[in-house]
Amino acid sequence: MTPIEGPLDWYKDAVIYEVRVRSFYDGNGDGQGDLAGLTAKLDYIADLGVTAIWLLPLCLSPGRDDGYDTEDYEKIDPAVGTLEEFHALIQAAHARGLKVITELVLNHTSDRHAWFQRARRASKGDPDRDWYVWSDDDKRYGDARIIFKDFEASNWTWDEEAKAYYWHRFYHHQPDLNFDHPPVREAMLRVVDFWFALGVDGLRLDAVPYLYEREKTSCENLPETHAFLRDLRASADARWPGRMLLAEANQWPEDAVRYFGSGDECHMAFHFPLMPRLFMAMRREERKPITEILARTPDIPESCQWALFLRNHDELTLEMVTHEERDYLWREYAKDPQARLNLGIRHRLAPLLQNDRRRMELINALLFSFPGTPVLYYGDEIGMGDNLGLGDRNGVRTPMQWSPGRNAGFSEADPSALVLPLVTAPEYHWQTVNVENQRRNESSLLNWMRRLLALRGKHPAFGRGRIEFCDAGSEHALAFVREHGEDRVLCVFNLSRYTRPLPLDLSAWKGMTPVELFGGVRFPVIGDERWNLSLGPRGFCWFTLKVEVP
Ligand code: NOJ
Repeated sequence: MTPIEGPLDWYKDAVIYEVRVRSFYDGNGDGQGDLAGLTAKLDYIADLGVTAIWLLPLCLSPGRDDGYDTEDYEKIDPAVGTLEEFHALIQAAHARGLKVITELVLNHTSDRHAWFQRARRASKGDPDRDWYVWSDDDKRYGDARIIFKDFEASNWTWDEEAKAYYWHRFYHHQPDLNFDHPPVREAMLRVVDFWFALGVDGLRLDAVPYLYEREKTSCENLPETHAFLRDLRASADARWPGRMLLAEANQWPEDAVRYFGSGDECHMAFHFPLMPRLFMAMRREERKPITEILARTPDIPESCQWALFLRNHDELTLEMVTHEERDYLWREYAKDPQARLNLGIRHRLAPLLQNDRRRMELINALLFSFPGTPVLYYGDEIGMGDNLGLGDRNGVRTPMQWSPGRNAGFSEADPSALVLPLVTAPEYHWQTVNVENQRRNESSLLNWMRRLLALRGKHPAFGRGRIEFCDAGSEHALAFVREHGEDRVLCVFNLSRYTRPLPLDLSAWKGMTPVELFGGVRFPVIGDERWNLSLGPRGFCWFTLKVEVP
């Protein structure tokens, strides 16, 4: 067992890089990304300046939901590698100071899982059957919404073998486990031990709001789910101090914070509602969507942390917005109807922002400034495009673009054997948009991201500080100070397309000298008057606030 190095709450200062292993780098030339390939690319990841990697599902799976359909929780899918290779990856990551976060898909399994095969054959009353949720009719739990609404018409599917319906919140081939059945809870605690024993530093709890079902409820966020999470946390803390649990709960802030409990459930939770509002603020060129949702976000326990993101391997979900806001975001960001999926938009970051460098910088700077731990989706650091011609969410899961060489440097295989086709749309073609080209160009997005990350890493206020908003004299601007002990960072953003004067009220920091972080240039001392700054179109600045020693 590898002991955790450094602070136990490492996740508070982290920047997480999300990797689809199958699309990252092919180590054995079969056309699929794999663990050996990822290990070979760890220097790239460490050099980017992130501190942790989150790996999409690795377990044995038929792959009908990209591995979120688990066939065996204790086997690595042979397509991505072996347990030995996983072990080597962990060692190599830790040697570079990178933490490793993997998936814990606890709500459901694949219908191929031995537990389900056993359950469907077991007769009624046999405890083996109770590992899943069965019903004689498909009307139970009728208040639960359908999540994959573009694919499934019901949360129940008839099973001929069992002669009953089984419950599933996602695809029909992903039956939900029955958490009311004690052996299921025990089995999941063993799965957690299995992965922590392998040395992983954190687990992302997939689809965690849906563990239990109760009549006349939405079957989300139920008290029973929180009770189980407290047990899981207690069990993990007892054996694995310093390991982190991250809740994937696509919920409103007041429900999402409950996944922290009183510091006794998950250490982290994704802030889903902030994400679409960043895109809304960008489009409307005003700060209100952001400040409103942050004001609505309750304080969280001291030991906890939000995970913040712009994009990930799924569609950009619009579940946490009103109907009007969803229509607006669809209209503005998914002009091509093909881009819409379920309640979201299946684009990567660069195409969402019209491949506009200023916008990409601005939205990343916002992400990296708010209280929480930023999560970066692989490929977005070089502005990769997507492919709407691929089904489901595959268009945002295409191979990483490493170089202008064969298969974008992703694989030595025959191009027809690639896990997914490379992006060839002219504007995002892999021959142009790739790591090698951007490494050479000092002004590339990749190098800009590296600088941004390096600067952020020097200031604990970003991960740990409180946030104090300042009046910036315009609804098109956003300004705040992040403060942690003596470390203070003033962040100012001009969301509009025009240059603006921004008279900032910094009276609380009177006498301090703002020093711009990228260039180290000293600005005038903050005095009695408004502190005047002008920012160009969609510009932003980070300043450290220095106390002048007389
Ligand atoms: C959330 C995951 O991010 C998504 O990719 C998956 O399809 C569902 N959970 C079901 O596991």
